[in-house]
Amino acid sequence: MQVTYYGHACFLVETQGKKILFDPFISPNPKADIDLSDVKCDYILLTHAHQDHTADVEAIYNNNDCQIISNFEITSYYGNRDMKGHPLNQGGKATFDFGTVKYVPAIHSSSFADGTYGGNPGGFVIWNEEGCFYHSGDTSLTMDMKLIPMLCPKLDFAILCIGDNFTMGIEEAVLAAEFIECDRIIGCHYDTFGYIEIDHAAAKKAFSARGKQLHLLSIGDRKDLK
Ligand code: NI
Ligand code: MN
Repeated sequence: MQVTYYGHACFLVETQGKKILFDPFISPNPKADIDLSDVKCDYILLTHAHQDHTADVEAIYNNNDCQIISNFEITSYYGNRDMKGHPLNQGGKATFDFGTVKYVPAIHSSSFADGTYGGNPGGFVIWNEEGCFYHSGDTSLTMDMKLIPMLCPKLDFAILCIGDNFTMGIEEAVLAAEFIECDRIIGCHYDTFGYIEIDHAAAKKAFSARGKQLHLLSIGDRKDLK
């Protein structure tokens, strides 16, 4: 699995010959110098409706032959705009041509920029023969994370929000890594705006003190994770 970081919570994961894009927020992100027309994908996975996760959905959808995977309310919102999608809800999973996707709980909120209700926010666990990973979306630490290793294959890596203020901060994310039984963590949802700036060295130290590795990718970095 190859992971490319497009900033904030936006990642492209390439697996089984497919390109899976999470939470596109690229053009409004002052830290991301990425041309939207360079972003190619087969699927757009949306953890929740907030603008800092969905701003570029329509532009990227229009540039690609792709479909959206998210909760029922979010896929309905885009369905009303003639955009294809597969609806999930909490605890549900479905299998696609790149693997199995399970939508898992997040403690957060979820509304579109125009005020439309975006359903309950979630995260995704995705697995296939190449491996298994988790994208937490925006969430507090939740005891429900302990269910992930009980219900899913062993995680090879996890993308966890670490920026605090709107989501887990470092100390919660370290506990999340323990709850999900995963040693290789990629941070997200930090440094994009003032509220969520983090101390990189302190963050890495907090993870390594518990035997975990924290990767803080630069925007545009592509990493082979298997
Ligand atoms: Ni959010
Ligand atoms: Mn967010």
